[in-house]
Amino acid sequence: MITCCNSLNVNSPFLLTNSSQQLKKTMHPYLHQSKLQKRSSDVTTRGMKVAAYYGLKTPPYELDALEPYMSRRTLEVHWGKHHRNYVEGLNKQLSQNDILYGHTLDELLKVTYNNGNPLPEFNNAAQVWNHDFFWESMQPGGGDMPKLGVLQQIEKDFGSFTNFRDKFILASISHFGSGWVWLVLKRQEKRLAVITTSNALSPILWDDIPIICLDLWEHAYYLDYKNDKIEYVNVFMDHLVSWNAALGRMARAECFVNLGEPKIPVA
Ligand SMILES: [Fe+2]
Repeated sequence: MITCCNSLNVNSPFLLTNSSQQLKKTMHPYLHQSKLQKRSSDVTTRGMKVAAYYGLKTPPYELDALEPYMSRRTLEVHWGKHHRNYVEGLNKQLSQNDILYGHTLDELLKVTYNNGNPLPEFNNAAQVWNHDFFWESMQPGGGDMPKLGVLQQIEKDFGSFTNFRDKFILASISHFGSGWVWLVLKRQEKRLAVITTSNALSPILWDDIPIICLDLWEHAYYLDYKNDKIEYVNVFMDHLVSWNAALGRMARAECFVNLGEPKIPVA
């Protein structure tokens, strides 16, 4: 079984080349909560060199837990090789660019996107973010119908769950080339929408709040479904999508977007 390369959180992981060296308390705010700080508290700072910035986040289930709909072999290749390569490629780039040191992954995406003129680090950073979000958009025993507020909002914004499902599948199979399909909450419009993004682009770049996503790169489905993208998308919707994750993400999104009627105090 493939195991994670490290257990550090994607938003604040730092590895040092020499564990006998001490982390400076003022170096980065995230380090105050790091296990590394505790482990390294009795050593010196001299010669410290940051060797890696972001860890490979493990999917929240075993690699064979999505079978028969997504095989262990697909997870081994997709997560264990493709996703890992994005993480390692990003860390290699960051080790050569001190200016980008110390961002959360969300921040790094926006900084390296550079207002539409992406820096070399952007593709790897965005693919790491997108894949982390993708693995957590699925669960064993997923699919079926969304629940509670997610279902209500889908019915409000798409007319019915069937309409949403049709729109999600049509957008997926119509998307040309590599990319992603997303259910997002649009902050300004205060409504859900289905969008696709090309290559590594992510909706957080223009402030949409992602609720679920599906990887439309061929490496995501070729081993299990060959070139049958329609079957892959249908299986995702029927058996894999995590409406539990969507529920949690919607709850967090509602901290920033008021989806109800305005509550105007009576004078
Ligand atoms: Fe992928």
